[in-house]
Amino acid sequence: MRIEEVDARTAADEVLARFHELELACHEELRPGEPVRTRDEVIAFHRHLPETQTSCHWLADGGVATLYVHGPTATFVNLLVDPSRRRRGIGSALLERVVARCRELGVGILRGHHSTPAGAAFAARAGAREEQRIVASLLDIGAAELPEPQVPDGFRLVSWLGRVPDEHLPAYVRSRCAMDDAPAPDEFDFPSSTAEKVRASEESLARRGREMRLTVAMAGDGEIGAFTELRLSKGSTLGFTDDTGTVAGQRGKGLARAVKLESLRRLRADHPEVEVVTTSNAEENSVMRHLNESIGFRATAVETMAALVLGSPATAVP
Ligand SMILES: CC(C)(COP(=O)(O)OP(=O)(O)OC[C@H]1O[C@@H](n2cnc3c(N)ncnc32)[C@H](O)[C@@H]1OP(=O)(O)O)[C@@H](O)C(=O)NCCC(=O)NCCS
Repeated sequence: MRIEEVDARTAADEVLARFHELELACHEELRPGEPVRTRDEVIAFHRHLPETQTSCHWLADGGVATLYVHGPTATFVNLLVDPSRRRRGIGSALLERVVARCRELGVGILRGHHSTPAGAAFAARAGAREEQRIVASLLDIGAAELPEPQVPDGFRLVSWLGRVPDEHLPAYVRSRCAMDDAPAPDEFDFPSSTAEKVRASEESLARRGREMRLTVAMAGDGEIGAFTELRLSKGSTLGFTDDTGTVAGQRGKGLARAVKLESLRRLRADHPEVEVVTTSNAEENSVMRHLNESIGFRATAVETMAALVLGSPATAVP
């Protein structure tokens, strides 16, 4: 079986468009009810992944695989095979190439997500163990109530578009350590945030034509108690809430609710064309799921993370 590795940074649009075609072919079984990403969005997504991580792309006739390496135990694969071409070994052949690359890079654990019986059977056959479940949910932002946020004493809400101002970058990076104790599987070490990674992410989003929207709760001394990220492609009707975190010492005061409400209210005011906002949370993250549900998010799909142990983690090149 011919499998071609492509360099997404330099590949032609028609080559990267194959990743869009596969995404469309698998959309309804994986993300039922969610708007699809456009061809241009998917091309830009793959071409402009952040420079601070290693990403690899493979194309087979009937399937695609993408590898995202953040660290030796924080490495993810996305593998899609056209429904009309399944059970012919395409998925296995792609996975073989992905695993070989992981071994070269010193990756100790490779993770993927499945949400269908076929995906579960494929992961089990590959020898992967099941880990946490991830709940994908969706907000009909037009119909959502979104009351004005109650801001806890000593904090004010601040929103930035595109770029964190230089003077607030160190405080923002410090606050991002709130993500370090988000529920995670065993032997999963997602490298902490750095100023360089924040800037690389901003650069990647700008090149993808995606608006980076960040809302923080800032204390009088400039420290950040909570933050929430929202992303939106130009002209799209679909927004995506990415990480939300409250630093350990400030939890239980309502900061996460305040930043989320503010972020969604501002999105609705700035982009009335947006119809749907999606997000994903670990099933066991009851605090964040409860908060999202109280705002109006409704679960649409549950994914299971599956981990393939390849050996003792060495130093993966990010
Ligand atoms: C999972 C997926 C990639 C499998 O692709 P594929 O090309 O059909 O996989 P293969 O033909 O290489 O199957 C390898 C083995 O997996 C198992 N398997 C795959 N699909 C199965 C199914 N529907 N039922 C039972 N077992 C299945 C079988 O053991 C199979 O070997 P066999 O055909 O010799 O019995 C494909 O179903 C898909 O794209 N699903 C949606 C996305 C997804 O879940 N990706 C995986 C996680 S990243």
